[in-house]
Amino acid sequence: MNIRPRRNRKNAAIRSMIEETKLGVEHLIYPVFLQDGKGIKHEISSLPNNFRWSLDQLLPAFEGWMESGIRTFDLFPAVDEHLKDTIGSYSYAEENFYLHVIRTLKERFPEAVLMSDVALDPYSSDGHDGLVENGKIVNDKTLPILGRMAVAQAQAGIDIVGPSDMMDGRVGVIRDELDEAGFTDVSIMSYTAKYASAFYGPFREALNSAPKSGDKKTYQMNPANKREALIEAELDVAEGADFLMVKPALCYLDVIHLLKEHFAQPITAYNVSGECAMVYAASRNGWLDYERTMMEMLLSIRRAGADGILTYFAPDAAKLMKG
Ligand code: PBG
Repeated sequence: MNIRPRRNRKNAAIRSMIEETKLGVEHLIYPVFLQDGKGIKHEISSLPNNFRWSLDQLLPAFEGWMESGIRTFDLFPAVDEHLKDTIGSYSYAEENFYLHVIRTLKERFPEAVLMSDVALDPYSSDGHDGLVENGKIVNDKTLPILGRMAVAQAQAGIDIVGPSDMMDGRVGVIRDELDEAGFTDVSIMSYTAKYASAFYGPFREALNSAPKSGDKKTYQMNPANKREALIEAELDVAEGADFLMVKPALCYLDVIHLLKEHFAQPITAYNVSGECAMVYAASRNGWLDYERTMMEMLLSIRRAGADGILTYFAPDAAKLMKG
């Protein structure tokens, strides 16, 4: 045997010298759930260690995350049922608590990068990402609402808007609306290849945002399809997306890799709630080592080609990497 691959694994120094994939806190984006009110820190039962926060409780926690090196945060609002309507009008209402939280965080933590979600579901009495008419999710009538929502978020100070709705043409409409309102610097991280996945369960519990009827299969992608992700990505790039996201991450590492190979835009991946919940559940049962499993998953997402990773593991992973 003149080739023995084990020679390159023989000690820690050599292993680390030739390590191909790096994972750092700069790659992590932390999704955070918000609720109106005071004194609220409500743990999501299917997503232990993750909470719905009211602003007063959030601020000290946010400071801790910033100290651990996390810089980018994706914010999601849990909206009271009585504020929801068919057109999601609360999403751009002056008094929307979510916009107030964005404003406050920007003031307190100017070096943080804040990302939003652009879709109707948390605000919609139908629980769908688009407008529902006669049981159908209508595409073109949804677009102006998404544009208006994005501009309201930009006015509050958001750095990146994240259209997660999967309506056709939304990136272009949002780009036009933002530019017209003077927000040429606000970035778009498009949920480019977002699959109709069973792994969103804990998230929908966190926001109480599950569809009231039907499912999301007429707009989110079929898990069986990969080439279709190329069509979505081409459109998003042409319409002005700054980042292309694949979601979920772990069952779709091949899609992450595909987009990385075909596009020069940065690729991000959403390590979604159900993927993290599996690890929490198994480690609570003593079946998996929490820290090692989490780090191996995050590394695999980077290895597949993701530049950034949205993950509920962010605070724990950041702490661990800090040592
Ligand atoms: C809503 C949205 C969802 C997630 C992010 N934005 C859920 C859905 O499409 O039903 C899921 C995130 C997760 O599961 O962690 N448009």
